[in-house]
Amino acid sequence: MSIKSDNIQWHSSAVDSNVRDERLGKGAILWFTGLSGSGKSTVARALEAHLVENGYPAFVLDGDNLRFGLNSDLGFSPEDRIENIRRVGEVSKLFGMANVLLLAAFISPYRADRDAIRSSVPSGRFLEIHISTSLETCAQRDPKGLYAKAMNGDIAEFTGISAPYETPISPELTLDTESLSLEECVDKLMLLLAKAELL
Ligand code: ADX
Repeated sequence: MSIKSDNIQWHSSAVDSNVRDERLGKGAILWFTGLSGSGKSTVARALEAHLVENGYPAFVLDGDNLRFGLNSDLGFSPEDRIENIRRVGEVSKLFGMANVLLLAAFISPYRADRDAIRSSVPSGRFLEIHISTSLETCAQRDPKGLYAKAMNGDIAEFTGISAPYETPISPELTLDTESLSLEECVDKLMLLLAKAELL
């Protein structure tokens, strides 16, 4: 995105990032992507609780919640979803730079938007987690009753029904909440974090 302001200057931190990491532990973004009702928020929240219980600073940002505040001016058109993910990507990066394990749970349907965040953080600090639960299962679960409405034509541009979802090509981890329990998902994520040397 281009920068509208003139006369601004970038100020570097007085704290070296290696020193920060040594003292505070590394920060990173775990990006959960998948259909509505796939289990992104549920898995992210369970991981957050487990990490905090074990003394790691973890925090969840999720689509529904951020649309009450920061993104209350955005809907679900392609342009608004792109802007939604751009903003939450920027916020996630700040949390990561502040040495938090930031768990971002957004449908984030466009591959290009997810890749843009990945390529703007240091290597190894963006882990993409595809919650791959099938459309059929999400529509069957329909925890918020949104699939029923979308199929009736009462919600326009609903992901998976009348709006696209671009599947990740090489995510760091794929979790299908249909075949895995919540505990198994958390175990796999903890293993991933350990392998990535983030714990
Ligand atoms: S995203 O596509 O821009 O990444 P986001 O994760 O913020 O979406 O919000 C998705 C949530 O908004 C869904 O879980 C669902 O509860 C709600 N929602 C309302 N309308 C729609 C829609 N048209 N498509 C998808 N989700 C919707």
